[in-house]
Amino acid sequence: MSLNPSLQLPIPYGRQEITKEDEEAVLQSLRGAYLTGGPTVKKFEEAFASYIGSQYAVACSSGTAALHLCSLALRVKPGDRVLCSPLTFVASTNCILYQGGNIDFVDIDPSTRLMDLDLLEKKLDQAPLGHYSGIIAVDFAGHPIRMDRVREIADRYGCWIIEDSCHAPGGSYQDAEDKQQQCGNGAYADLAIFSFHPVKHFATGEGGMVTTNDPTLYERLIDLRNHGITRNRNKLIEDHGGWYYEMQVLGYNYRLSDIHAALGMSQLNRGASGLAKRTEIAKIYLDAFKDLPMKLPLIEEGHAFHLFVIEVDNRKDFYKYLRQHEILSQIHYIPVHYQPFYQKLGWKKGDFPLTEAYYNACISLPMFPTLSISQQNYVIDTVRKYFIS
Ligand SMILES: Cc1ncc(COP(=O)(O)O)c(C=O)c1O
Repeated sequence: MSLNPSLQLPIPYGRQEITKEDEEAVLQSLRGAYLTGGPTVKKFEEAFASYIGSQYAVACSSGTAALHLCSLALRVKPGDRVLCSPLTFVASTNCILYQGGNIDFVDIDPSTRLMDLDLLEKKLDQAPLGHYSGIIAVDFAGHPIRMDRVREIADRYGCWIIEDSCHAPGGSYQDAEDKQQQCGNGAYADLAIFSFHPVKHFATGEGGMVTTNDPTLYERLIDLRNHGITRNRNKLIEDHGGWYYEMQVLGYNYRLSDIHAALGMSQLNRGASGLAKRTEIAKIYLDAFKDLPMKLPLIEEGHAFHLFVIEVDNRKDFYKYLRQHEILSQIHYIPVHYQPFYQKLGWKKGDFPLTEAYYNACISLPMFPTLSISQQNYVIDTVRKYFIS
């Protein structure tokens, strides 16, 4: 097969875009006075909060650190029970285990692939009041979960909410009052989190953010990401002078450096154009595959298209075929309850049949803003040949 060199094979399922402006922003940061602990982190937080529509944003070292900070700020304690969909990356649920809490799962709605909110309600209804303390709602693949409905359910059962919006910065949905709500904007969730891993919408290498509208949680997050240390004169128990600080709670070093924040700021400038490109790619795929024997994603207004996941029969063979043609598709995700660590906690195959049926068929095709037209055409032709030849 003679291929056009501009195809740049292999084609990954996702990848970062680094522009000259990004490089310049990082260089400027390297030449500046602060590599960490400087003003760029605050600027990035303010710009991110403004992009997402939340009141506060707290930058940290990864999406996983963001999740752990949330469970610390919400004071998750040993024995607490928290609900989440098994269709997510393990970090979404591990953050509760870090604090000695327990995870319980709610199966997905196969049409949206999000936590089934009717099943969530049923599960909460069947348990004694107070049995569950929180809900982690994931905007899987970029499909915004209806947070107004999650809030309404959570309130009835006294649960807090973390929205895992790693896949959905810039995504939005219309709430019951016909208001357009941005994923992670804090209108309904107590806390929301994002990741800046290279395959995500904004890449800093490693990095994460927590957003919230709650000033108390915000204050806690600020201290927790820096060892639990405060310098806030109003909060100090004693005051020995300008140098004085107190470690009042047990925290971590989950800070983001100014170098990473500079890259994040620069990437954030392309938020809207990146989202528009992802949407365009999704529309082209949907049109190209509409006659093929596969299940296409349900696309609703406001979808953020982190992933483009199709469901096919004989997935293993299809995955192998794509690899042979240098298309590096991925599987999102192996259900959390399949992981040996979670199986040791008592979960087993068969517990969440809808997630498991999805897992047996799912495969993510290349989806990233710099996917070229010729690359996408190559993916489309290759996929079509598999089904039609
Ligand atoms: C849904 C979800 N939650 C959490 C994370 C964790 O983010 P990070 O890799 O930045 O720790 C990821 C990213 O991999 C993710 O996809």
